[in-house]
Amino acid sequence: MLIICPPNTRLQDCLLSRSIHILTACGGRGNCGKCAVKVISGETAINTMDRLWFSEEQLEAGWRLGCQVFAKDEQITVEVKTGSEG
Ligand code: FES
Repeated sequence: MLIICPPNTRLQDCLLSRSIHILTACGGRGNCGKCAVKVISGETAINTMDRLWFSEEQLEAGWRLGCQVFAKDEQITVEVKTGSEG
């Protein structure tokens, strides 16, 4: 499922406003890696927790921890896997 997240918005807030739920086993602390999403377009920062869970190649391909993604200055498009998608 592709989600467009507007600027200055946390992906988690964007998803919740649409009643879309991703797996967040650790409560969004960056400890479980269950919330992986793929940023399709737009820039998002890579933080320390992303670096723990993903290889450099995966980061280059856009993989991030969904609980940590923030759309800063521009809208981003993110591919998410919801709980119902298995
Ligand atoms: S919810 Fe656990 S790492 Fe994101």
